[in-house]
Amino acid sequence: MTQINVRVDGVSYSDDVEPRTLLVHHLREQLGKVGTVVGCDTSNCGACTVHLDGVAVKSCTVLAVQADGSEVTTIEGLAQNGTLHPMQKAFHDSHGLQCGFCTPGMIMASIDLLTENPSPSETEIREGIEGNLCRCTGYQNIVRAVQQAAAEMSGTQDRTVGNGHVSLAVVDTAAAPHVAGAQS
Ligand code: FES
Ligand code: FES
Repeated sequence: MTQINVRVDGVSYSDDVEPRTLLVHHLREQLGKVGTVVGCDTSNCGACTVHLDGVAVKSCTVLAVQADGSEVTTIEGLAQNGTLHPMQKAFHDSHGLQCGFCTPGMIMASIDLLTENPSPSETEIREGIEGNLCRCTGYQNIVRAVQQAAAEMSGTQDRTVGNGHVSLAVVDTAAAPHVAGAQS
């Protein structure tokens, strides 16, 4: 067993984990963060997406020991004082879900997309979430939700990339798919 220290959704945890333990299993089984779900065993679906130090990753592709010393945000850490994150609200308003199983990962990936590109085109949204699968095929409303969130968040929030503050004008509109594990 290896001791790791991880800050998850604003709370610091110190736990012993086996070196083979995946981050998603650590989150769900040791920390009770069951809002992060497992939708496949092939690293394809993206349902398990969380933010690791501000960047979207598929938590089934990361070992818990690799998160030692890091900050993790899950879907459960987005709402603040009972107020939904604009992306959560947009998914609700635009009905960007059907069964909802893909939704946690979709939301986490979509937030990361807007961090990289605050005003994505429809094509850029579709490319940006290509690492996340919706088995209900509800992509049309998911794209609408991301567009709504982009409009709502544009100009109203500062965004950070890594440790650096970036202005809304400094964006990489040609960003490659940025969900770790999405690239083949
Ligand atoms: S559970 Fe499917 S990509 Fe992680
Ligand atoms: S809403 Fe059912 S998998 Fe996406």
